Amino acid sequence: MAGPSLQSQGYLPVATATLFPATEIRCDLYLQRVGQAIELYRSHQYPLEVADLERLKQHGIDHVYIRTGDADIYRQYLCQQVLHEESVPTEVRITALREVTRVAFQDAMDANDPYQAADLASDLGREIASLIADQAVALQEVFHILEHDYYTFTHVCNVSTYCVMLARDLGYSQEHELASVATGALLHDIGKRHVPAEILNKPAKPTAEEWAIIRKHPVSGYQELSKRSDLSWGQLMMVYQHHERLDGSGYPSGATGDDIHPWAKVCAVVDVFDALTCSRPYRQPVPSGEVCDYLQQHTGTWFDREVVACWAQQVRNIG
Ligand SMILES: [Fe+2]
Ligand SMILES: [Fe+2]
Repeated sequence: MAGPSLQSQGYLPVATATLFPATEIRCDLYLQRVGQAIELYRSHQYPLEVADLERLKQHGIDHVYIRTGDADIYRQYLCQQVLHEESVPTEVRITALREVTRVAFQDAMDANDPYQAADLASDLGREIASLIADQAVALQEVFHILEHDYYTFTHVCNVSTYCVMLARDLGYSQEHELASVATGALLHDIGKRHVPAEILNKPAKPTAEEWAIIRKHPVSGYQELSKRSDLSWGQLMMVYQHHERLDGSGYPSGATGDDIHPWAKVCAVVDVFDALTCSRPYRQPVPSGEVCDYLQQHTGTWFDREVVACWAQQVRNIG
């Protein structure tokens, strides 16, 4: 995964697992060898061959880079040649989905355009719901494929994937409903665009003042998105209420019990799950079983009992 420095130079990491021999990605690929500057690895005129991919694998290179301006081309390549290609193994398709989401969102956030992000989220929400629901994918298959670095882009991708799996197991059976939940989850932290990156990526716990800034993100996200007529109340509540707690100890409004939308309750559980299972600049990831214990300790007070019980069942299978 690229640190902010390469990204600020205009490069985006892409997983080598999503590259296939003889496919036309139509964008130049770059490589950074240890201790060296980034260099052109393969021009778009020369498709990758099996031997190239083998070599990358042998050297443990799991990411190459593209120019930020090519993000859309890469996204199209993934959607057209990987995501919907039934001969591609589910694991690779999930990796592709993870990449599509990350690249697309990074692009939209960099462009500072919440409307572009909302458009993308509704397309991607449908993709996530259809892949996860159709293939009956289980959490133990997905957990190891997702990235756990807690960049906002990876976080929203993880939360969206988890929300669909949890909603599915809670009995939401309609694909359009699962797609709506996935879209709402992709947008849940959109208000974090207004939190300075120095605070979000700081290698220490935020100070009280910084927390006050972070805690504004549900309100600013809701305010921006509430003007869109294509988002449902449930989706907006995922944005506004995902930090609310049943006993009123959450934020931004201290809503309690049934005043918290069921989709926000689902989002709250997997949001905390992802936050804790990801590494942060100031701590190691917490093992999933311990996070499960934590969620169960706060069930009924912070989190919905049924939602936690259902999620715990999936988490215990991760192993
Ligand atoms: Fe949040
Ligand atoms: Fe979040």
